[in-house]
Amino acid sequence: MIYFDHAATTPVNPEVIAVIRESLLADFGNPSSTYTIGRETRRHIEDARRIFANAIHAVPADIIMTSCGSESNNTAIIATALALRAKGKHLITSAVEHHSVLHPMAYLETMGFEVTYLPVDEKGNIAISDLENALREDTILVSIMYANNEVGTLNPIAEIGTLLAEKDILFHTDAVQAFGSEEIDVDAQHIDLLSVSAHKINGPKGIGFLFRRSDLHLPNYIHGGSQENNHRAGTENTPYIRGFAKAVEMTLLHRSEANQCKRDLRDYFLSSLEKAGIPFQINGDYPNGVPHILNMWLPGMRSDKLLIQCDLKGIMLSAGSACTAGSLEPSHVLEAMFGKENPRAAESLRISFGKANTKEEIDTFIALLASIYAKQYGNN
Ligand SMILES: Cc1ncc(COP(=O)(O)O)c(C=O)c1O
Repeated sequence: MIYFDHAATTPVNPEVIAVIRESLLADFGNPSSTYTIGRETRRHIEDARRIFANAIHAVPADIIMTSCGSESNNTAIIATALALRAKGKHLITSAVEHHSVLHPMAYLETMGFEVTYLPVDEKGNIAISDLENALREDTILVSIMYANNEVGTLNPIAEIGTLLAEKDILFHTDAVQAFGSEEIDVDAQHIDLLSVSAHKINGPKGIGFLFRRSDLHLPNYIHGGSQENNHRAGTENTPYIRGFAKAVEMTLLHRSEANQCKRDLRDYFLSSLEKAGIPFQINGDYPNGVPHILNMWLPGMRSDKLLIQCDLKGIMLSAGSACTAGSLEPSHVLEAMFGKENPRAAESLRISFGKANTKEEIDTFIALLASIYAKQYGNN
């Protein structure tokens, strides 16, 4: 098996598995209980909270454990909008966000909120001037992703944060694809809310966190018990929280070497594709985007057919985001970048690297692409 779909999810690090296993056995106490094993379990959760906070230069009180990146995004958007509806009903986002941002926005529209969807250029960047022009007296929240999950483009987060701080408008960023590779500083970048998910950084699926400034006094999204300092009800998933914390520690420890390794793989892939004589164009802001994502247009080669041929050879990758893979829907991100009728949206592949990928795996993949290309265009 050759796995080139690390933007969809990543394999769980063996050290993370060891922590989860140990925690499943030892931490069965309810963290809300006052007796010893409850208190011990709570201590582990608070240790993890400190690790998450340090990773983004935040304070632990502003970290809320969630069940995934999608929950973090839904909480950040829906709970904030409902809390501030007396102040205004206008929100701003971009056309290329993950569905866990776009769908909550659409849901809010059904409740009378108004949403502006900023366009992007051909590299996937929003224009700060578009954002400035879209701001209104009644704008309450702007949600712009840190890095795009399909093409890897990074947004100018500090610039957006500074602009919104001056106007006193809340800023949420979905950092699910950026956390693994980027240096995040919520204070320096003026971020009020930020979403992270464990399974993109070699942690388990089904656990994430939301950074949300507690001095904003925003309400709960999930109501019930008083867990998470009264910010999110539900008995905590201690083993996965601890596993996630381990994944964060490992990520930070190896971040710069992992980034370099992925950049090298990305460059090697592109030069090999060129050598093989397969025409392509990059979708995204290469080489400035996040190092693990490479998205390219292979003119005339339908991505749905390519994915099947790759799968038959044990090569796993994606055409769009994980949620749209498997369906024939063209990517909304590529449509926003290149227009609705552009064949590019149906002829592009996303390759996303992990640090365990090798140049030999790339060679195997390029050889397959070359043979498909030769068959299609009768070159052999
Ligand atoms: C940019 C982005 N946001 C949010 C999510 C959702 O995260 P989760 O799968 O943890 O709900 C993903 C996952 O694909 C993503 O890539």
